[in-house]
Amino acid sequence: MTLKFDNKKIRSEFPFLSREINNKPIIYLDSAASSQKPQQVLDKLMLTYSQGYSNIHRGLHTLSEEATEAYEEVRIKISRFINASSKDEIIFTSGATMSINLIANSYGLVNLKSGDEIIITVAEHHANIIPWQILCERTGARIVAVPVDSDGSFHLRELKKRVTKNTKIISVPHVSNVLGTIFPIKEISAIAHENNAICVVDGCQGAIHMPVDIQDIDCDFYVFSGHKLYGPSGIGVCWGRGEILAAMPPFLGGGDMIDDVDIEHATYSDPPSRFEAGTPPIAECIALGSAVDFVEKIGMDNIEKHEKSLLSYGHQRLASVKGLSFVGTSSLKSGVISFTLNSAHPHDISTLIDQDGIAIRAGHHCAQPLMKFLNLTSTARASVAVYSEPEDFDALAISLEKVNRIFGD
Ligand code: ALA
Repeated sequence: MTLKFDNKKIRSEFPFLSREINNKPIIYLDSAASSQKPQQVLDKLMLTYSQGYSNIHRGLHTLSEEATEAYEEVRIKISRFINASSKDEIIFTSGATMSINLIANSYGLVNLKSGDEIIITVAEHHANIIPWQILCERTGARIVAVPVDSDGSFHLRELKKRVTKNTKIISVPHVSNVLGTIFPIKEISAIAHENNAICVVDGCQGAIHMPVDIQDIDCDFYVFSGHKLYGPSGIGVCWGRGEILAAMPPFLGGGDMIDDVDIEHATYSDPPSRFEAGTPPIAECIALGSAVDFVEKIGMDNIEKHEKSLLSYGHQRLASVKGLSFVGTSSLKSGVISFTLNSAHPHDISTLIDQDGIAIRAGHHCAQPLMKFLNLTSTARASVAVYSEPEDFDALAISLEKVNRIFGD
């Protein structure tokens, strides 16, 4: 059972909130880039490195056994968090980027050939574009991109128009990191399967904002990064459907992913360890488990509700700023508010409001094709997390009005 959402108490668990920037209390509206960490994650990281650290899966001594157990417990925790049917479907990677590279280089190289097609959307972050481009260079496959509406909405009919008998992979974001659009990933997965393709979901901006049920979505891969989920950087997740993983060759080779090794030949272990070569970020993984405990204690459904009402307040508050235009106003939206101001370039906005202690992201947000599609070079983006509060948007609106005064709009 989850407790009532208590934003003040939650905020008290984030030490960064005591920080001042330019003599002002920090207002952090850049959580889509990376979230801040609660005390329990910081404690777990410190405790693991100071008292419970050793390499895993290799030692027969107490410390190694303890670290191995703690690491493997996180696999179970993550499988419950996204409702995977087995812990063995959870592969730890360094983050979502590595996860998509793994899928492209392992599943992709084996299953795609010249003439095949990979469907993505124009709203992808580069991590869901470049690995596919590299795969296309190597296989002769090609990328087909589905557009979005001018308000950022996604329509299944636009996807259906582009699916052909050559479509092998459909890879989409759960939530756009620029537009905030929530994609209908369950329906997209069904379309992929009806056409004998697989569906990959970049869940970076999804798993942090709402409950994720892999079995309900019925996609084939779902990836996300720990550092956006209040956990450490350098650790992430690639969930893959068991039977697909079982047939995939390794991506990276090294220790811990093998069964038997001769000088010229080796046999590989079963998933997930087949895909976890070398020493992983052990303490970071264990601390990610603590981040999952943290969000589960609050309840992902409560986090979703809190952030939804924040976004609605944020839109309403920012709409009063002269010359401000929203980029992405789909009715199904989560996590971010992108905007432009008539008076100033997003980079100038970000630099100026930093004087008021406010952190936002400005630029192309690693989504250059989307910027080109929207005929923009950049936007300013405010993004929320569990610790965000309505007052953050009050402060942002006041600071943006100041920007307007400075630039004379
Ligand atoms: N994907 C991250 C962002 O949107 C880096 O800022």
